[in-house]
Amino acid sequence: MVNIIQMVSRSGSQGGLFKDDSTINPGFRQTHQQLQRLIQQYLNQRVLCDRLEDLPRQFQVAQPRPWRPIHWKSIDASQIVGIDPLIFIAILAGAADTEHPIRDYTQTSRQYLAPLHPAMAKFVGGTTDAQGTLLEPGLWEKEERQHSPALQKLYTQFTGLKLRVVPHEARSYQPFANPELDLYHHGLHRIATEYGATCLYLWLTAHSVGQLRAVFEELLIDEINHMTKFWGYGRWAYPSVSCFNLLNALLSKALTKIWHREASSLLHTLRRMTQVLHWEAWSFKHKATFLWTLILSLQQMYQWSHSLSPEYLESLFGRPHQSEAQAPSEAQDPKFRS
Ligand SMILES: [Fe+2]
Ligand SMILES: [Fe+2]
Repeated sequence: MVNIIQMVSRSGSQGGLFKDDSTINPGFRQTHQQLQRLIQQYLNQRVLCDRLEDLPRQFQVAQPRPWRPIHWKSIDASQIVGIDPLIFIAILAGAADTEHPIRDYTQTSRQYLAPLHPAMAKFVGGTTDAQGTLLEPGLWEKEERQHSPALQKLYTQFTGLKLRVVPHEARSYQPFANPELDLYHHGLHRIATEYGATCLYLWLTAHSVGQLRAVFEELLIDEINHMTKFWGYGRWAYPSVSCFNLLNALLSKALTKIWHREASSLLHTLRRMTQVLHWEAWSFKHKATFLWTLILSLQQMYQWSHSLSPEYLESLFGRPHQSEAQAPSEAQDPKFRS
């Protein structure tokens, strides 16, 4: 808790943070029901298909989704449900830091995509000149770049202070094996981070009311949109990688890395996220409900992913190139080797 207080006070003050520090305290059951309702509403199969079917339209004419108007001034700590406001604010600050280097995220992804999927490269990373200077940001960046400022605004609304963002260094483009394998690994990592953000905003939506909840719903809708597009497009680009194989490969890869004490980008991200979100200070109930959110969301995505037939995906994106149809295997991929 000391770390959190230090972190919350990194703008210089700890006093008079809240208008009202009384919070409603729902039990496991209510939180669980609330999470299930949100998943039914925002992560149902119809919504997921709609978000994927939107991608070919965005390739033609990119249109960022506008947020509904938010009454920022009406937000106060009484809208936080069942979380200690200090921990809540620490989570906000950690999420703002993580969302901050969006330009670096988008440009790294553009470089992995450009040799194989120019339309998707433009969607995530925009257009550049021959020297690689950005001419216009991609749609992903245009939507994502609202996130950190929105979280910073919430921080200011709760504390009266300006958040000094401490952005972490985004992983740069590192071609390693061949473009397809590199993109495959990068894509997995990107989907995992969008999934993590989706679950975090789902969980925060379940712990808020009023205009505070409206902000998290907007963040949630954006993250679901991006996660679904990346996931579905990945299923099309690597048709022989089944969802089961994917989870299996991720798990065995992570376990191999742990066994051999090697660095894994996914494990590194997971470790970093637990630090910036101050996981060690979360109560047992909060940890349990967040893990439950991860499981329920993954289950929902797994069912949807399983329903995506090659015919359906080809109707959206055409036939995948022959070379893209090859599933990266452990034998091909030096990163799988111990
Ligand atoms: Fe985001
Ligand atoms: Fe995101």
